[in-house]
Amino acid sequence: MTADAARTELRSIADSLQHYVEILKEGGLGGLPRTLHMSSPQAHPQARPQPPSPAEDRPIASPADIDGQALDSLAALRDAIGDCRRCKLCEHRTQIVFGVGDPHAELVFIGEGPGADEDLRGEPFVGRAGQLLTEIITKGMKMRREEVYIANVVKCRPPHNRNPETDEIAACEPFLRKQIELIQPRIIVALGAFAAQTLLQTKTPISRLRGVWHTYQDTKLMPTLHPAYLLRNPRDKRLVWQDIKAVLREMGRL
Ligand code: URA
Repeated sequence: MTADAARTELRSIADSLQHYVEILKEGGLGGLPRTLHMSSPQAHPQARPQPPSPAEDRPIASPADIDGQALDSLAALRDAIGDCRRCKLCEHRTQIVFGVGDPHAELVFIGEGPGADEDLRGEPFVGRAGQLLTEIITKGMKMRREEVYIANVVKCRPPHNRNPETDEIAACEPFLRKQIELIQPRIIVALGAFAAQTLLQTKTPISRLRGVWHTYQDTKLMPTLHPAYLLRNPRDKRLVWQDIKAVLREMGRL
């Protein structure tokens, strides 16, 4: 390796560490843990921490990336994703947030992308918005969080919680598509404008999408408001309850 290449690599490692420290601070932690994991060993034991590769080295994701492989389980899909470097979100994430729940769930919730808490924990919807989603599932629907499956449109945290960009969505889309194909849920609930508009490939506002049944990959899809929006606008919880009741009716639970 040339001195220049070594300097570039060191700078990239330093940037990743700096970003990790910022995330820890946002999460309210005062210092670095003794062991530093760029990827969660529990979530993906094979993944080794690696510095981000330069943009020009990264392969562009295409559906063939995943479709070409005989993937017959979510675990196999997670393995195939590996320590993904298919888009620029890999440069700032702590770890990939793949999804959680029953691999054969009847009901799947899809959000936008991991936030700071999810990026640190490696699990979707574990922050404040996640707590509200858990209440909707447990108190509203009388189901257990483990009974459903929860995932996001993109599996890595967009920096500063910005919306995922077109190339990032395109890189991650084959993974979500395969996840749904493997789970074969009866119903998908799209949480918020971003998830609903991305899955349905429309720019129609969430106010017009929500409360009405749509279809994604031959599966019934109900768009509703995002729990983070509900934290800011609690009066609109009644609208989400209307949507959730429609889901419960469809599942024969109401
Ligand atoms: N918001 C999302 O859309 N997804 C998460 O996992 C957390 C917050």
